Amino acid sequence: QTLRIGMIPADGIGHEVLPGAKAAIQALGSSIPKTEFVDLLAGFEYFTRTGTALPEDTVQALQNDCDCAMFGAVSSPSRKVAGYSSPIVALRKKLDLYANVRPVTSVASSPNEKPDVDLVVVRENTECLYVKDETQIIGPNGKEARAIRLITQRASRRIGEMAFKIALNRPRKGGFKHLTIIHKSNVLSVTDGLFRETVRAVPTLPGVDGKYDSVTVAEQLVDSAVYRLFREPHIYDVMVAPNLYGDIISDAAAALVGSLGLVPSVNAGDTFVMGEPVHGSAPDIAGQNIANPLAAIRSAALMLRHLGYTDGADRIERAADEVIREGKCLTPDLGGKSKTTEVVDEVVRRI
Ligand code: NAI
Ligand code: MG
Repeated sequence: QTLRIGMIPADGIGHEVLPGAKAAIQALGSSIPKTEFVDLLAGFEYFTRTGTALPEDTVQALQNDCDCAMFGAVSSPSRKVAGYSSPIVALRKKLDLYANVRPVTSVASSPNEKPDVDLVVVRENTECLYVKDETQIIGPNGKEARAIRLITQRASRRIGEMAFKIALNRPRKGGFKHLTIIHKSNVLSVTDGLFRETVRAVPTLPGVDGKYDSVTVAEQLVDSAVYRLFREPHIYDVMVAPNLYGDIISDAAAALVGSLGLVPSVNAGDTFVMGEPVHGSAPDIAGQNIANPLAAIRSAALMLRHLGYTDGADRIERAADEVIREGKCLTPDLGGKSKTTEVVDEVVRRI
């Protein structure tokens, strides 16, 4: 049996951090099945050369030849570019990777880090404003731009089920199981109202039978949630949110643990999983071998964990945590002087 892993570095530091993820997986040796890495193309740079950001070959390969995948990061311009659309947003939809699961944990006691952060952001990954249904018209008052924000009961229910499952099963210090539903129903009572109600109703669904009785449920408006996240991050365990709020909250949570370069994620569906660091392509530091590879490395661990390779995932995570805790081999985002490749070597040595 071979584990075939699609590798899509895409743009910018994606090319520098994804080799770290690969090296960490390879370092596991025979404790996971034999691995085969399938290099796949996508991204803005690829678009500027070819006119397409996500070639059909890449989608086909992921669907037909790969058991899982790792994605680096893509550089999406802020201006509208004719014919371009973000390949990661498209991949999440095409592969129906409806959940973006982003654990944020403090492991050291560095000056950049808040202690006691141990939470997971569970972000809906297919709808909300990311349906990208935007129009601009000339109205009586000049240009008028509109965006559709789609919230469905189906997507809210399955992300809610995923969040409850994670809250129930995740080992957490102190053993408390707590789910916070993030919304803005005071203003968007129809869309966020549907999200909130649907997630709240998960424990009452047929077949659940009290399974989630040990999970306490709270809810919070997204703005005050960010405020409380900074003041008292320890109150959060699992946070479930519509797509855009989840995106913003997870970058904010990354600040609590010292760097975006530390926070991993998986894009998960019922039949496929794709690891992906939470950060973007970081054009400000790309090409210098100074990007922190630990988010990508931890994303590889999350991907393996999702596939059931718990031991391999543990070994990668332990090695990454040790490197952070020891504090001797860190990239500049964490105040160190080490290169990307040196951090990768250090993690590999410990695995
Ligand atoms: P970013 O996440 O790329 O960078 C934000 C800041 O964090 C920068 O100062 C960067 O240097 C730093 N940073 C990020 N990852 C780091 C790492 N591994 N090590 C050290 N420092 C790190 O966000 P930004 O600058 O807003 O966006 C840049 C590009 O990335 C944009 O084109 C955006 O569209 C794209 N992007 C792509 C994402 C994806 O592929 N899923 C997610 C977020 C942004
Ligand atoms: Mg983001």
